[in-house]
Amino acid sequence: MSDHLKRRAAEVAAKTELRSGMKLGLGTGSTAKHFVDIVGERIRAGETYLCVPTSEATRIQAESLGIPLTTLDEIGEIDLTVDGADEFDPALNLIKGGGAAHLREKMVAVNSKRMIVIADASKKVAVLGAFPLPVEVVQFAHNTTARAVARAFAAEGITVETRLRKAKDGSTLVTDNGNFVLDCVNSGIANPGALAARLDSIPGVVEHGLFIGLCFAVYLGSEDGVAVIGKTS
Ligand code: 5RP
Repeated sequence: MSDHLKRRAAEVAAKTELRSGMKLGLGTGSTAKHFVDIVGERIRAGETYLCVPTSEATRIQAESLGIPLTTLDEIGEIDLTVDGADEFDPALNLIKGGGAAHLREKMVAVNSKRMIVIADASKKVAVLGAFPLPVEVVQFAHNTTARAVARAFAAEGITVETRLRKAKDGSTLVTDNGNFVLDCVNSGIANPGALAARLDSIPGVVEHGLFIGLCFAVYLGSEDGVAVIGKTS
């Protein structure tokens, strides 16, 4: 999505959803970055927010904008979390983790009264899975965990190839939490809830990028404007 459409989706989401005084979860990625910029602008205009970032990258951005930050442990329940997504389906189930931040993103989302996604039409799918599913795994015996992950996909009738994610310099990517990520290239996830339950039960899997029933609404940016899919606030 071109950058101006990301900004447009973020602007409409902010206008519709933000109220001064809110406790916010700040998502990660090139779309969520625009929302963080807007929160910074609102603070400079005199509004107050207390925020929890979902990654070190977002923490650094938010700090540079003077956004007051705290931790999930300190804040208790968050009023609103705004994040990007790699895919969303008609039930607003998501694939996240393209930026390897899905563990913290999910922890923040489940502790939020409301989680919304800002995205463009390229993220809208009928069936999740064209985007390889990110699965964060502990470094210890990660090949053993990868085989268990492959069996979980197979048990759902899905063909899969697990690829250990590399960083830009070619080294194995290590997440903010010190773990590896398996990108699971697959044939399509017809029943995301069932696959999520299987992945949840594998020792060594820290968290996967399936967000089931967590997203309330998607703000979808396009050249024609921003459409809202789901429950408005
Ligand atoms: C990070 C994420 C991102 O929200 C997702 O990858 C979308 O990123 P972008 O807005 O850059 O397309 O889940 O872990």
